[in-house]
Amino acid sequence: MTATPPPLRFGVATSAYQVEGAVDVGGRGRSIWDTFCALPGTVLDGSDGSVACDHYHRLDEDLDLIASAALSSYRFSIAWPRVQPDGRTLEPRGLDFYDRLVDGCLARGLQPFPTLYHWDLPQALQDEGGWPARETAHRFADYTTAVAERLGDRVSTWTTHNEPWCTAFLGHASATFAPGLRGAAFPVAHHTLLSHALSAQALRAAVPGAEVGIVLNLTLVHGEPDADPRAVDLVDAVQNRLWLDALLDGRYPDVLPELADPALVQPGDLELVHGSLDWLGLNYYTPFRVGSPVTTADGVGQDSDAFPGAPDFGFHPRPPVTTMGWEVDPSGLEDLLVQLSRRAPSLPLRVTENGSAYADEQRAEDGSVDDADREAYLLGHVAATLRARDRGADVRDYLAWSLLDNFEWAQGYTQKFGLVEIEPETLRRIPKRSFRALAGIARAAAQ
Ligand code: FCB
Repeated sequence: MTATPPPLRFGVATSAYQVEGAVDVGGRGRSIWDTFCALPGTVLDGSDGSVACDHYHRLDEDLDLIASAALSSYRFSIAWPRVQPDGRTLEPRGLDFYDRLVDGCLARGLQPFPTLYHWDLPQALQDEGGWPARETAHRFADYTTAVAERLGDRVSTWTTHNEPWCTAFLGHASATFAPGLRGAAFPVAHHTLLSHALSAQALRAAVPGAEVGIVLNLTLVHGEPDADPRAVDLVDAVQNRLWLDALLDGRYPDVLPELADPALVQPGDLELVHGSLDWLGLNYYTPFRVGSPVTTADGVGQDSDAFPGAPDFGFHPRPPVTTMGWEVDPSGLEDLLVQLSRRAPSLPLRVTENGSAYADEQRAEDGSVDDADREAYLLGHVAATLRARDRGADVRDYLAWSLLDNFEWAQGYTQKFGLVEIEPETLRRIPKRSFRALAGIARAAAQ
């Protein structure tokens, strides 16, 4: 007889630069996103994360909000430039903030779920070469040790990187994300994976029993009838297999010759990466449909530049789509979870992000956002996660993106993913209908 799996746990996710604000407080150093946002034309509405949701100053209020929804966990990220403003020297006030965050979670019965890197590299390390330089992987391991030594007595489940595909390909191929470079995606992909492995070692050394994961934005890649099969294969290789083959099999896909360079991938690197995971996090928003090239006014998420080596192609999302232009397909989440569980049967899985951007034009009588569309997206994807569990996938958590409307990277504040609205002038938090829906799901699951 097989044991009944523990119930799926529910939580919410944010990331430091998208919500914290307070960029000049507590000795925080500059990050590559501060620099990138200041360049003309990089962020759609010319905004930045300098105030964002002011989560840094409203921490208790936000933790109360999460706890009010009967959630189990809070996924947040640690801003490296708060902890090591120059990428090396420790700033104790930075760690004090995350210490309070962790204690605040525990006091409210929430599991703290930190991510060490959600894209905000200290600018000082960028100036020394950034992720294209191998040395940055060693700096990341040192930073990991500093954080783990401070928080490891209370935090057991750790995430190294969030979506290293974005760091590598949006940051260093299509130039749509910080640091806005081109031509360096493959070295960065390898160095982020190497840094993940070194960070996993550092975590295990500092925190007995640490459970180490990485968060990937894997997706299902479908070829449209008019697609060039080489483009479909390369998109899948870059988006999915590069990461999974390295982590699960200790090799890179043959179709990516850039990763066969022994000067880049040095002896022993892939042995370190292979088997470095205790669990795997999946951020899922949409499937990819690859077909003939299309011309888009707005390149984000639609840019074949982010897939170096692929013949020209376009993405062809099918309706319904969100305001990001991303196709809504809950069955893609179910299929992906089942595929992953078959490929790595003993690896626990977590849905570490899932959510939707909508215009939020409907208001309820009390003035709050009546986001039936976001609620439907949420319910559909939670149901898909539960179906994947019924089909044998060991999925432990479902974490909704995001607690708050926040700074959506190159889209600035034009895209709203929050379950809670932020009133622009006052930064007052106003829960939307979707927030109450998640609370209802969490309460039912906990019974
Ligand atoms: C993911 C990011 C997250 C957020 C969502 C919408 O790729 O991890 O920070 O921007 O997309």
